Amino acid sequence: MESLTDRFARKLNYVRISITDRCNYRCVYCMPPEGIPALEHHRILRYEEILFLCEALVAMGVRRVRFTGGEPLVRKGVLPFLKELRERFPSLRVALTTNGSLLKPYAQDLAALDLDSLNVSLDTLDPERFRQLTRLGCLQDVLGGLDAVSRAGVAPIKLNTVLIRGENDHEIPALLDFAHRRGHLLRLIEFMPLEDQRWSSDAFIGADEILRSLPGPGDWIEEEEAEAGVVKGPARYFRNRVTAQRLGIIAAVSHHFCSQCNRLRITATGELRTCLFAQEGTNLRPFLAAQDKEGLEKALRRSVLEKPRCWEDVQDGKLHMSHIGG
Ligand code: GTP
Ligand code: 5AD
Ligand code: SF4
Repeated sequence: MESLTDRFARKLNYVRISITDRCNYRCVYCMPPEGIPALEHHRILRYEEILFLCEALVAMGVRRVRFTGGEPLVRKGVLPFLKELRERFPSLRVALTTNGSLLKPYAQDLAALDLDSLNVSLDTLDPERFRQLTRLGCLQDVLGGLDAVSRAGVAPIKLNTVLIRGENDHEIPALLDFAHRRGHLLRLIEFMPLEDQRWSSDAFIGADEILRSLPGPGDWIEEEEAEAGVVKGPARYFRNRVTAQRLGIIAAVSHHFCSQCNRLRITATGELRTCLFAQEGTNLRPFLAAQDKEGLEKALRRSVLEKPRCWEDVQDGKLHMSHIGG
């Protein structure tokens, strides 16, 4: 079957699927203090529907799927679902993005899944600041979870740190040190302006400034794409020529990777979004509910042709990260 390609000859072979809008945290860069009204249960895609969707996507050349949320591990039945997905599509690379709060109880099950990659949010190593930034979280849960998954052999693990000036930017050396000792890859992320959170131009730290503020700034050498060995994404990777530590910087705002974007997104309700910043999507739910393969394929091919050239063409700041999954 012909693979999914858009008007700009970008091959779409990586899909991010949000499996729930719910989250047990209320991070200040993502949500208002009261959270975001939860979608009604019946609006959320059922696991069978996601499996049906994955079957169609795999047939159309999708090679990798990353599950996100909200917090994907709060959804009931997520581990049996991932196990079934793995069994049904052994060649599909499966990745997960999580806030880390539930890694401990799931460590063995996650290891058995042989994930392609596990991305864990970690914005601070200070328990009090962690509580303030996540509003509901406990740092020890995440640190204990990281220990547990590392011991269980889940790898590779990337740590995601959203940098907010005056909150956690002074922790870059400590976070780098933590990641290096544990063998995780730290990625420093530009704070993106979304709806309902505390973004301001003062709080924003751009990639160039992040680079200048690293310890031994001249020692970090950007990796060539081939060396980075990753599916093209929003992160740029650097290696320290003294310590050999690697570091990622996600310049989500200041540096676009749009021309090479290979991503599609599915929201928790089954809407296909062709860009993180797209305001509208295509509702795939009717095709999934009816198990209509032909209709689904047509809808996917049609929507992909509407993928914008660049996020600047569609962005208007009204985005709920917990619905889209980042
Ligand atoms: P891999 O590259 O597959 O490891 O994952 P990732 O870094 O894309 O995923 P992750 O869920 O860990 O997200 C890390 C950060 O990148 C989050 O802040 C996301 O919102 C951001 N991000 C992910 N995809 C995109 C994208 O297409 N565009 C932009 N601007 N940011 C993105
Ligand atoms: N800016 C940048 N990254 C964000 N994330 C959530 N909100 C924002 C934002 N406003 C990140 C989380 C997680 C990923 C899924 O998205 O930290 O790592
Ligand atoms: Fe939850 Fe992730 Fe949003 Fe934090 S950033 S509130 S962990 S969905």
